Amino acid sequence: MSVECYDEWAGPLQGYTAADHLYGADGPWPKVNTLVRELPAMTKRVPKAHTEDFRVNVVAHYLKTLKSGRVKIILKMLAGDYRLRPVSDVLFSGQLFYGTLSKLLTPVSAEDVAEFPDLLNPEALFDSEGEPTYLKIDTLSMQRLDPLHGIYSAPSLTLFRRDGSDSGTALAIKINGLVLTPEDKNAWELAKYFVLQGALCLITLVTHPRLHFPMDAISAISLTALPRQHVLFKLLAPHTRIQLAINQAVSLQTYSVAHNNQFLPYTPYPGWGNVPIIEEGRGWTGLMTDAFSGIEGNRSYPAYSFPLVPEKIWSDFDTFVRGYYDVIFDFVSAVVRHVDLDDPVVIYWSNAIAAWVTGFPAHERIREGDTFARAISYFIWDVTVAHSADHGAMGHYQQNIFPLRLRAPAPASKTLPPVNRRKLVTFGDTLRNRLCFKMYFGPPQGNEYLYDTWYDFGVPELDDINQTFWRDLKRFDEGITCRRFINLKDIARSINF
Ligand SMILES: [Fe+2]
Repeated sequence: MSVECYDEWAGPLQGYTAADHLYGADGPWPKVNTLVRELPAMTKRVPKAHTEDFRVNVVAHYLKTLKSGRVKIILKMLAGDYRLRPVSDVLFSGQLFYGTLSKLLTPVSAEDVAEFPDLLNPEALFDSEGEPTYLKIDTLSMQRLDPLHGIYSAPSLTLFRRDGSDSGTALAIKINGLVLTPEDKNAWELAKYFVLQGALCLITLVTHPRLHFPMDAISAISLTALPRQHVLFKLLAPHTRIQLAINQAVSLQTYSVAHNNQFLPYTPYPGWGNVPIIEEGRGWTGLMTDAFSGIEGNRSYPAYSFPLVPEKIWSDFDTFVRGYYDVIFDFVSAVVRHVDLDDPVVIYWSNAIAAWVTGFPAHERIREGDTFARAISYFIWDVTVAHSADHGAMGHYQQNIFPLRLRAPAPASKTLPPVNRRKLVTFGDTLRNRLCFKMYFGPPQGNEYLYDTWYDFGVPELDDINQTFWRDLKRFDEGITCRRFINLKDIARSINF
């Protein structure tokens, strides 16, 4: 299925007119990414209503943070909370095994044994049930960053022994050609900050964007190609709010945090940004290339392919987000029983998305088993639960141990003097961090939620299914026994933060 065939919407199908479509020929549609061709499609003709919604409900939050919010943050920092805090080994692992950061944990494979020959036995990488006994965090993509003057960053590889399904112990950090362990005291302490720096950079610039950008083509095509009265339109449209405008702003606006323009007060990253692209493959677009094209031979950086079910996460974050996926799947399965899979509208919709989104099932595959329900469920889950839970967890991190800028180089020796935290991070660095957390990382801000989404199907049987969905969400929320990364009442209806 080539993109050229779906370069533009083909227009209303037989039996429909332009008036049956929300935007007609002026509707949003995917276009090849103008930063890097291989990245997920951007959107042409983002609807005015969406940019206005973004301006009123999201940009207003940015501006409020920069005005009154900034004063509050500075006062809190001046009251003593501006220094980089020590990170015990328990806190270090605890934060990395919590929520969105735990998405960086991947099982150790036989190829990793050579990295830590004294610590890993190739025969003991998995337990008797096939569960990994070790996990790692590989921040290799940090090599894409060119640090700002006086600021340092470095890729690292951290090895953890699993202590249960949602915790672990850090055994070693490979950085700058050294393998450090807790016995290397000061070098170990310094290395942990580089790991936390890399983890926060990667989660916000590589991993979380995998939830954002591939969904644009699905939203654009659904809003334009599906007739308003179609069940599929009614099911998907509520979950497209703000997303196209927010993703366009992140990619292309010069004030985007991702571009790390140093003239702005809230840009916290350690490396040069990318507008205009300084050099191909460097900076944010380089990190994004790793996010979507992957790094060959590196299992921590798989190439993106639209999944039908949530990808495995090695912590209780998996239990939390996957449980919600199951609720959404039950709901979607009940709704799509009312949709004819061979309806020309469904055929065109699925084939157009498949042309633009790697891995999205084209019509032939949509017809197999529960693929149709899975594809829709994954989209709804991605833009609601998965996205909001990422930001919810980000709002829980202990911000004063996460430096995004470090003013000393990564350890070059196992023997170092004690870490001078006062010189490692400045007041200004911390202020940028705090503003960025409040504006972009978490906790999330929003005003329309999943738990009371009314799809307005207008058919009693489907409206009943809608109400059952509300009850099932509430029942699942009340029955959660793992850690809670976001409250149901705060899970947004769409990507809006
Ligand atoms: Fe987000």
